Amino acid sequence: MRAMVYRGPYKVRVEEKDKPRIEHPNDAIVRVTRAAICGSDLHLYHGMMPDTRVGMTFGHEFIGVVDEVGSSVQNLKPGDRVMVPFNVYCGSCYFCARGLYSNCHNVNPNATAVGGIYGYSHTCGGYDGGQAEYVRVPFADVGPSVIPDWLDEDDALLMTDALATGYFGAQLGEITEGDTVVVLGAGPVGLFAAASSWLMGAARVIVIDHLDYRLEKARTFAHAEVINFAEQDDIVVTVKKTTDYLGADVVIDAVGAEADGNFLQHVTSAKLKLQGGSPIALNWAIDAARKGGTISVMGAYGPMFSAVKFGDAMNKGLTLRMNQCPVKRQWPRLLEHIRDGYLRPREIITHRIPLEHIAEGYHLFSAKLDGCIKPVIVPSA
Ligand SMILES: NC(=O)c1ccc[n+]([C@@H]2O[C@H](COP(=O)([O-])OP(=O)(O)OC[C@H]3O[C@@H](n4cnc5c(N)ncnc54)[C@H](O)[C@@H]3O)[C@@H](O)[C@H]2O)c1
Ligand SMILES: [Zn+2]
Ligand SMILES: [Zn+2]
Repeated sequence: MRAMVYRGPYKVRVEEKDKPRIEHPNDAIVRVTRAAICGSDLHLYHGMMPDTRVGMTFGHEFIGVVDEVGSSVQNLKPGDRVMVPFNVYCGSCYFCARGLYSNCHNVNPNATAVGGIYGYSHTCGGYDGGQAEYVRVPFADVGPSVIPDWLDEDDALLMTDALATGYFGAQLGEITEGDTVVVLGAGPVGLFAAASSWLMGAARVIVIDHLDYRLEKARTFAHAEVINFAEQDDIVVTVKKTTDYLGADVVIDAVGAEADGNFLQHVTSAKLKLQGGSPIALNWAIDAARKGGTISVMGAYGPMFSAVKFGDAMNKGLTLRMNQCPVKRQWPRLLEHIRDGYLRPREIITHRIPLEHIAEGYHLFSAKLDGCIKPVIVPSA
């Protein structure tokens, strides 16, 4: 089969690989019909994630058609159209039993922190991902769901990560009626977090980025106020000024480890690898939140420590909430919101790229060229 393969930082290409096989009775093999490139894939592409091995296929946001099932699979059959959450999880361990699917204890030899994620390095279990013609889906009775007939395939694709994560970001913000919510980052996760914040009672939603074309999308898609941080002397002061000098009730970090905006933080993280990521967006969140406010961290950070302003967070009495998204937990509510027209996920898709040209997709998305917000990969195109 054809599959995207990692060859080292900034180098991906499409190669011939063995088609995956059933390795366990509860496995399924899924023929991928659409995959997406996620902001998280960029951390791998840039060589930021430890133990990203040459030869690995990325892709944790995908849908497809069941090709084959193992002997114990009961919920799926060949021919079913399925959406597959980005988490690989067993469904029955201590953590899964509590809905912490992203922290499953049975799917990753490194499971002290994160559970399993498709195509996300051996730090996250070493599973090959869905930017390929076929993918092996372990615990096939647990994660995937059959796509309802009425659901658009692009919307289903975005349910498997970006939409669920943005919604989860707003949820962890514990937004109450009338809150001012600041979202850092106008990528797919930030756009969906902003749109979801309204559904949870926000009275103001302010999106911050330095890419005008993405801020424009935040305005038209998520109906948010927008601020370009590159045009401000001090973005924290700008947020304070617009919130009666109190700060925002809720700040959502939808940026993560590769935040721009501070040269020293960038060099010590991306270049010198002295910290698990530049925490500049997170530090802005800590500074821009009001005392007693809540910070929700959706942006991904590496396993190493980062220079986070923890003392300020402590002294301000902030609540910090964060996790990799337990995707399937969000699905029942998201399906309602899409069906009722409150969320229109596919509107953020900007590019549709054949698998053979995936290297261009990574380049476009990484360098933020050609108005790229969300590239979708089509294996059969
Ligand atoms: N927690 C989860 O389960 C989960 C799931 C998906 C993605 N993520 C993470 O969420 C983050 C966003 O993902 P995405 O797909 O939207 O990525 P993306 O790269 O498309 O978007 C990130 C945006 O942040 C902006 N940005 C950079 N520095 C900034 C700063 N200091 N302040 C404000 N904005 C800044 C960039 O210009 C860009 O528009 C990534 O770190 C990704 O790994 C986490
Ligand atoms: Zn992702
Ligand atoms: Zn589990």
